[in-house]
Amino acid sequence: MSRDSAIVILAAGKGTRLKSERAKVLHEAGGLPLLAYVLRATQPLRLPTFVVVGHQAAEVAPIARAYGARTVLQRPQLGTGHALRVALEKLPRGLRHVLVVPGDAPLLRASTLRALLEAHPHAEAAATVLTANLKNPQGYGRILRGPDGGVDAIVEQNALLPAQSALREVNSGVYCFAREEVRAPLSRLSRNNPHGEYYLTDVVGLLRTAGEKVLPFVAEDSDEILGANAPAELARVDQILRRRKAEELMSRGVTLYQPDTIAIDPDVEVGPDTILEAGVQLLGRTRLGQRCHIGAFSILRDTVAAADVTVKPHCLILSSRLGPGVAVGPFAHLRDAADIRRGARIGNYVEVKKSVVGEGTKALHLTYLGDATIGKNTNVGAGTITCNYDGVAKNPTTIGDDVFIGSGTELVAPVKVRRGAYVAAGSTVTEDVPPDALAVARARQVNKLGWARKRREALATAKETPEGGRGARVVRANARPAGRAAAATKRARRRRRAARRRSARKRRR
Ligand code: UD1
Ligand code: CA
Repeated sequence: MSRDSAIVILAAGKGTRLKSERAKVLHEAGGLPLLAYVLRATQPLRLPTFVVVGHQAAEVAPIARAYGARTVLQRPQLGTGHALRVALEKLPRGLRHVLVVPGDAPLLRASTLRALLEAHPHAEAAATVLTANLKNPQGYGRILRGPDGGVDAIVEQNALLPAQSALREVNSGVYCFAREEVRAPLSRLSRNNPHGEYYLTDVVGLLRTAGEKVLPFVAEDSDEILGANAPAELARVDQILRRRKAEELMSRGVTLYQPDTIAIDPDVEVGPDTILEAGVQLLGRTRLGQRCHIGAFSILRDTVAAADVTVKPHCLILSSRLGPGVAVGPFAHLRDAADIRRGARIGNYVEVKKSVVGEGTKALHLTYLGDATIGKNTNVGAGTITCNYDGVAKNPTTIGDDVFIGSGTELVAPVKVRRGAYVAAGSTVTEDVPPDALAVARARQVNKLGWARKRREALATAKETPEGGRGARVVRANARPAGRAAAATKRARRRRRAARRRSARKRRR
């Protein structure tokens, strides 16, 4: 590869065919902005890289810089030819070749760019054009070959003569130019075309008229040159990028059920013998260990799972950690640094936010754990809720090892349940529970004997009697037994108090 080369990526255009306010290169496919994919293809060439920015430059430039590229501002944006002219002015002296790459062609591979760059100086051509034979060339510039097989001209779609519309060989928009040779034709471009733009493609014709050599370099995989100009093309490109990632993982021993329904971002890592069911999405920086099983329609973003983790269907897991052998779901929501330790189990309809769930601990049904730290081998009963938010601040809940939290418990934070403690079902815990204690924090039960039967009878009588102001009776019939039961409770309470007084007297004696 020639060390005296630089790369220019054209990324200043708006992309009118997308019918979007956002710059085309910012649109995402395969989990990244289009421009990021292009930069990932050029980065391995290790050449000084310049990205031409213009439309939404403030958002495009940071992507370029994240990959170590410099930016050149093109304002206004007068076409691809104008973009290259602006870039060349900023290129350091001494560079002899320029590899030009469009910012909206995310399927390009580094190996193809490298091959093009290597072929170009050897052929001593003024330009080498990466071309491809497409079944459907619609929208692309067509390659006109000369009798010697060289490129005579590139004709844009809307300038095609009827005889030329059968041409299947298209311009990829990737070119190698000899810097000195391209300077003159660039300054002679005209805007005499339907878009009123300076077309970079016209440089080819000008070079040929000047007697220079322009060679084609045909891409082996024609998919690689596909652009993403319209929404349907964006969807197609996304599909191909997802396919590529799926195939990469399959080649490493990962099993994908119905791979075309699965979306995996480029930086995701998955260990061998892991199974991904249909509709799974693995996004961002997610990493899965070996022998994991991710159930259908579960979405994991920026999540790290160790080996042997099971995620049942329909879970949403964001920025979390799952230890070895952990099981989650179905229908669980883990987020904001949920940290589920070895062998712990999170069941259905459980939400875990910013909490540590210790080794072997279980929270299996309908539970919210927020800002909680839970020890080992603790059982969190069905319907447990950490009341972590008081309307102003988030408060912590701490639960020790070997704790039993009964079902339907509310833990009003800040609160601590110490190791080995037991919380009775249905408790509202507002004070710390000491180690090995039992906390019961709920109203005592009252049984009103015969109440239900009498109410049924009263309702039945009310139904038999003809309509008209009889409702009141039902209410009274209801009230009486309730009143009686209350009196009975009062009597019982009095008896208990008397008994307590008697035993206290006994103790004093
Ligand atoms: C271009 C080619 C076409 C080729 C196709 C391949 C021209 C005139 N046509 O068409 O032959 O088949 O690419 O994908 O070049 N850009 C700028 N500044 C501008 C205009 C565009 O930086 O003033 C950038 C765009 O952001 C884009 C790239 O250049 O990333 C290509 O522009 P685009 O409008 O997509 O060109 P196409 O119409 O696809
Ligand atoms: Ca394009």
